[in-house]
Amino acid sequence: MTDKTASLKTTSGDFTYPLLNGSVGPDVVDIRKFYGDTGMFTYDPGFTSTASCQSAITYIDGDQGILLHRGFPIDQLAEKSNFMEVAYLLLHGDLPKQKELDEFSYTITRHTMVHEQLATFYRGFRRDAHPMAIMCGVVGALSAFYHDSTDITDPQQRLIASHRLIAKMPTLAAMAFKYSVGQPFLYPQNGLSYTGNFLRLTFGVPAEPYEINPIVEKAMERIFILHADHEQNASTSTVRLAGSSGANPFACIAAGIACLWGPAHGGANEAALNMLREIGTVKRIPEYIARAKDKNDPFRLMGFGHRVYKNYDPRAKVMQATAQAVLKELNISDPVLDVAQELEQIALHDEYFIEKKLYPNVDFYSGVILNAIGFPTEMFTVLFAIARTVGWVAQWNEMISDPEQKIGRPRQLYVGATQRDYVPVKER
Ligand code: CMC
Repeated sequence: MTDKTASLKTTSGDFTYPLLNGSVGPDVVDIRKFYGDTGMFTYDPGFTSTASCQSAITYIDGDQGILLHRGFPIDQLAEKSNFMEVAYLLLHGDLPKQKELDEFSYTITRHTMVHEQLATFYRGFRRDAHPMAIMCGVVGALSAFYHDSTDITDPQQRLIASHRLIAKMPTLAAMAFKYSVGQPFLYPQNGLSYTGNFLRLTFGVPAEPYEINPIVEKAMERIFILHADHEQNASTSTVRLAGSSGANPFACIAAGIACLWGPAHGGANEAALNMLREIGTVKRIPEYIARAKDKNDPFRLMGFGHRVYKNYDPRAKVMQATAQAVLKELNISDPVLDVAQELEQIALHDEYFIEKKLYPNVDFYSGVILNAIGFPTEMFTVLFAIARTVGWVAQWNEMISDPEQKIGRPRQLYVGATQRDYVPVKER
């Protein structure tokens, strides 16, 4: 709380509200008493000016292009850390000491297997089911398998559920992929890294050993780190809202997966690569730029724009460099990368994009890398979901432990019919 206040003049009087100040970032007007004082609601569709909670996990300065996890800049984490360390950081608040990291990694690897009966769920899906559809179902189904970690009032059970979710997501995601290509499910190998294990589960077959390419493993680590958390984005807010009613953690994460799937959110990585493929050559870029600018055309440049970043998405910078490195080291020449780079340059110098502060976001280059590694486009958002599970469980735990937490219950501006009397069907 600061000494500063915000005053509001209304027809029914003047009111003063305290300002809350975070450790960094804009002050926040505390309007909790607003309705009681004034009998009015505030209106903010899409929460463009509304802080829905307090959080100590992730900080974004959209104007400066800054993203910090527990205070650490994303580019330093992407460059120097690994996914297990970032997962620990997000969950526990600080970088682990070696012993803590070893114990955390050990715990996660000991939870990588899924109940054998879960495999039967996959067989209920069509082979051509979108893997995100499968993930919504099977992650929700975990609630029916792990009853000993659904009591959300018990911090130990919450921690076990969090470990289970982080550990089992790669197994479930790889099973979704294997099911779609008709190959047998593999069991996890706990001697491998988190990403190494996931690569083997996805691309390995029981008939021969799978060799992990260290360049690909490193790129996957980076992609996972870059997607691990992003403060109160749509899917995280969904997880918090679902969790605010006391729902179990597996059901809440399934809700987050459903939200992430949308093309305005996590589904944008799939949509961005499809768009780059559709553009196909550098020559056709102006046509698509013109479409993106045309008010009568619903087309948007996928992988461009962000609610919060109005300078540059710092994750996109790391992603672009990783895309170049991966393609070079794997000796792949993909015309899609040329299209992406040229499109970025043209858009960055175009008045429409400058004026609206539209820059490439994390999804613009990630598809190029994932495609080079060999993932089909339908798996892109699933990979996002694996990584974001860490952020979701960290935010969910923070919410449950917050003494100010209440069930999420927004108000509305009602614009429907006023009270009227029922008319029997024959008289209508
Ligand atoms: N291409 C063309 N025009 C755009 C784009 C775009 N990608 N994004 C925004 N605009 C325009 C939009 O038409 C609007 O113009 P006007 O003011 O004339 O009506 C203006 O910019 C503001 O757009 P908005 O939709 O009001 O902004 P928002 O903050 O609600 O939306 C967004 C943010 C990410 C949903 C949007 O930029 C978008 O749809 N981008 C494409 C999808 C995408 O890449 N999503 C991934 C986001 S990053 C990963 C993640 O966190 O999930």
